[in-house]
Amino acid sequence: DAIKAGTIGNLLNLVGAGPVREMQELAVNHSRLRIPLLIGLDVIHGHRTLFPIPLGETCAFDRALWERSAREAAIEAAADGLALTFAPMLDVARDPRWGRIAESPGEDPWLASQYAVAKIRGIQGVQLASADSLAACAKHYCAYGAVTAGRDYASVDLSDRTLEEVHLPAFRAAVQAGVATVMPAFTDIGGIPMTIHRPLLRQRLRTDFGFDGVIISDYNAIAELLKHGVAADLAEAAALSLKAGVDIDMMANAYRHGLPVALERGLVEMDDIDQCVRRVLALKERLGLFDDPYRRGGPEQPQVISTRRQFAREAAASSIVMLQNIRKALPLRSDLTTLCVAGPLGDAAAEMGGCWGAAQDMSQHVSVLQGLRAALPEVLVTHAPGVAISGDDQTQLEDAVSVCEGADVVILCVGEAANMSGEAACRTDLDLPGQQRALAQAVFETASNHDIPVIVVLFCGRPLTLPWLFERADAVLVAWFLGSEAGNAVADIVTGRVSPSARTAVSWPRSTGQVPVFFAQRPSGRPASASDHFTSKYLDSPNDPLFPFGHGLTYGQLAYADLRVTPEQASERETFSIAVSVTNSGERAAQETVFLFVRDPVASVSRPVLELKGFTRVLIQPGETVSVQLTLQATELRFPDADLKSIFETGAIEILVGPSAERARLLVACVTLTT
Ligand code: NOJ
Repeated sequence: DAIKAGTIGNLLNLVGAGPVREMQELAVNHSRLRIPLLIGLDVIHGHRTLFPIPLGETCAFDRALWERSAREAAIEAAADGLALTFAPMLDVARDPRWGRIAESPGEDPWLASQYAVAKIRGIQGVQLASADSLAACAKHYCAYGAVTAGRDYASVDLSDRTLEEVHLPAFRAAVQAGVATVMPAFTDIGGIPMTIHRPLLRQRLRTDFGFDGVIISDYNAIAELLKHGVAADLAEAAALSLKAGVDIDMMANAYRHGLPVALERGLVEMDDIDQCVRRVLALKERLGLFDDPYRRGGPEQPQVISTRRQFAREAAASSIVMLQNIRKALPLRSDLTTLCVAGPLGDAAAEMGGCWGAAQDMSQHVSVLQGLRAALPEVLVTHAPGVAISGDDQTQLEDAVSVCEGADVVILCVGEAANMSGEAACRTDLDLPGQQRALAQAVFETASNHDIPVIVVLFCGRPLTLPWLFERADAVLVAWFLGSEAGNAVADIVTGRVSPSARTAVSWPRSTGQVPVFFAQRPSGRPASASDHFTSKYLDSPNDPLFPFGHGLTYGQLAYADLRVTPEQASERETFSIAVSVTNSGERAAQETVFLFVRDPVASVSRPVLELKGFTRVLIQPGETVSVQLTLQATELRFPDADLKSIFETGAIEILVGPSAERARLLVACVTLTT
């Protein structure tokens, strides 16, 4: 009725071309102005076919892959009649207690910017009007990842510099990439909810970045301004949001019911409303909805779907990070006769999707057990869950341990349930939930008595703090949540059909007490020193994470040498050419990710000890040495000065290249910036 009456112009959370068409018909055939609806859904990491969760996929460090998975998801979602997705999420996340780290591109702002561009290209395609393009939404603007104590929806308080250097760059990149919509975060920054944050919405986003698209509030966020304590009623909340430039009210009914009252009270003018309306109509026009409101929605070819599944398998394998591989436990020996898949996530197809996936068909996901049975038809693959993901029941634990005893190798699948990360899924204790630790310890004990290697496959939406597990596991693969093809991808890696290549996009902490731990820290006037008590360190833990950002093993054996940077001096307009030799002395080919960091040792403002400025991937055959080339534009070394104005300062810069953010493993060259 509201659609017919013309009081609802947009909808969310419909799945399927049929329901979408039905709603669209109401608007197009029955409302006074016949304006088509804009219909959106959270297509976060796939639609019908699920790809790895964003944090997992970021670890692939592969722009083409990020773009392709977004494109495939957009094609599927558009076939379901949708024209808008609330993705990509671009919140830099440095606190694994925050469940939404799973939806993020990790801890680094430069990486988040690269990811933003790839995702927006993939979602929006070549032009928005195409029948297989969706409008993307850069969310959640901004600094949502910095919620106090990692607790969802909590207040954010940070310096203007951190905002500028860490939380804004990905949104600037998104606007430059032509993102159609932006969603403000639920949260406040220093007392001003983002939904009404005029300096950040009007000034930074619209004026400085040049965003002229549509701003969509988050779910019920306008009504929540009352609970934030900044509006007395819905009319005030609506007026404040409208004045800040929010064009669409998601689910709060504030624009429907509050705005007419606000207009009567003189809190807004018709001109303010017209500006919003014009932006929303312009988006509908760009999406081609006025030409043909039904252009999206139509059957797909089975052939296309099977190619997509194949890609989902490759994307999943490319996202698995091998954190540890002692005594070459992986890949599995070829003369195996029995293998036990233990743990509650071993045959848990329904969990493989992770957070989000409104349109997924869980029965189509492949579990680890299914994947391994298909990959190893000659091997007897047994299965023993032992315990549930959560809960106290240990009655099946001993049985599972006995099943493990009879195997040549154990693949222990443990971790979080799909709904333990994502929105409103924060945790203070990042150990394994339920009785899984007891199970893992019993399996390690038995396995060590019988000399059976234990390969741990961790399913999680965040880094888990499991030092006890890393001490005992022969190999650890982080599978995150890999989506529809999870089990096949795990099988590809453990059998060696595919060499692991992903790198962790977040520092992996030793304990929650270290959080936030990230590589781009500032140096401190008292950097940690073992011989000096009064330096920046803990009494009970090292400062560095268990695994640094960028860590991830391959089946190769790689060594870096001979870093060369030219020219030695450059002005802002010039570009540095960087070359490094990488040798694979192992027996298997490796897809190596090479990182480029910089450090400004003396500047007018203390700069981070490392800043990411580039990465590239290269396939290196056994025995081969490859000269890897990277470039760095000197202008990328600009930073906000003491007044937060962008500045290019002359002087020395260190260029550091290597396999991760672990300082000791980076090769360093010094160059000079000149006028
Ligand atoms: C709330 C979430 O914060 C946002 O990311 C999502 O797009 C909306 N709900 C709609 O589901």
